[in-house]
Amino acid sequence: MKGVILAGGHGTRLRPLTHTGPKQLIPIANKPVILYAIEDLRDAGITDIGIILGTNMPEKIKNALGDGSEFGVNITYIMQGEPKGLAHAAATAKDFVDGDSFVMYLGDNILKSGIEEFVDGFDESEFASRLLLQEVEDPRQFGVAELNNEGKIINLVEKPEHPKSNLALVGIYLFKNNIFDAIDKIKPSWRNELEITDAIQQLIDEKQSVDSFVVEGWWKDTGKPEDVLDANQLILETIDDDISDEAIIEDDVKLKGRIQIGKNTTIKSGTVIKGPVVIGENCQIKGYVGPYTSIGDNTEIIETEIDSSIIIGNSTIHSDKRITESLLGENSKIITDNESYPKGRSFVIGENSIVKL
Ligand code: G1P
Repeated sequence: MKGVILAGGHGTRLRPLTHTGPKQLIPIANKPVILYAIEDLRDAGITDIGIILGTNMPEKIKNALGDGSEFGVNITYIMQGEPKGLAHAAATAKDFVDGDSFVMYLGDNILKSGIEEFVDGFDESEFASRLLLQEVEDPRQFGVAELNNEGKIINLVEKPEHPKSNLALVGIYLFKNNIFDAIDKIKPSWRNELEITDAIQQLIDEKQSVDSFVVEGWWKDTGKPEDVLDANQLILETIDDDISDEAIIEDDVKLKGRIQIGKNTTIKSGTVIKGPVVIGENCQIKGYVGPYTSIGDNTEIIETEIDSSIIIGNSTIHSDKRITESLLGENSKIITDNESYPKGRSFVIGENSIVKL
């Protein structure tokens, strides 16, 4: 089988972070979200992976992942061009897939369980597609599946106003090659996109067999800032201790819970860190770092309390108020300045930024 990861899209709900890069590179526990998809495919024995790139700085994805050998996979890049929907993206992978069965994995999805048990047996099965479903609170934001009494899918609707169930389509789909014929037959939706949901419905209408699994462990689509922070929390729940031999932990530092610290990072005297926390390389940390915080490389935390946040990296934070549930892009600065006038609060923030004071 092959893997196809979708890494296009404008990531509008994650602006301003997506003004400087694709959403699939936003780090969750200091690791780009797309790497979780790559590792899931690899761990399920799928090492031939096509990555579909969009128009939002695709070269950044190529630079981050290269030919995939660093991650034990073999990556082929495929240009989608303008995003015209998930089914359009899938169709651009037809030559790459070359008649094989494949897993299509949305590059902003994370699934706790991995995908091994779902991939198992699919290639040899009679199924044209296998879907993963999960119960969600607000199904209107997703593709929604309606099942009959025997648990068979009878209907799929993309972002319905009046959902027939609370079972959302997880952004990981298994297909045989005939999905490409189904995609050829569908028309753009009300949002002018070729929906993969409609292509699967087309298979169902043609009486092809589609099976499904309801996923038990957590699943996150990291499309919005709050989902990114939730995913960070869920991944940090699973980390092990790992403090580099090349990190410097000064005297009078309190480390509690599971903590990872990268090389050349200094944890200064007086600091308290309560895990789960991940801190990257070349950081200077002085203050309090509380649970569910990921701090990227080259970051300075000065006399600051912070928890439940992601600092992507290359940033300086010196705040006399605790920073919580925050998502900070690269090269951010939050500075408390009690010395100079005027004493107002001063901001340089991008489009769609959120500041809670
Ligand atoms: C897409 C799919 C939707 C699916 C979701 C899962 O939505 O269209 O059916 O439930 O991914 O992440 P989008 O993220 O494009 O809004």
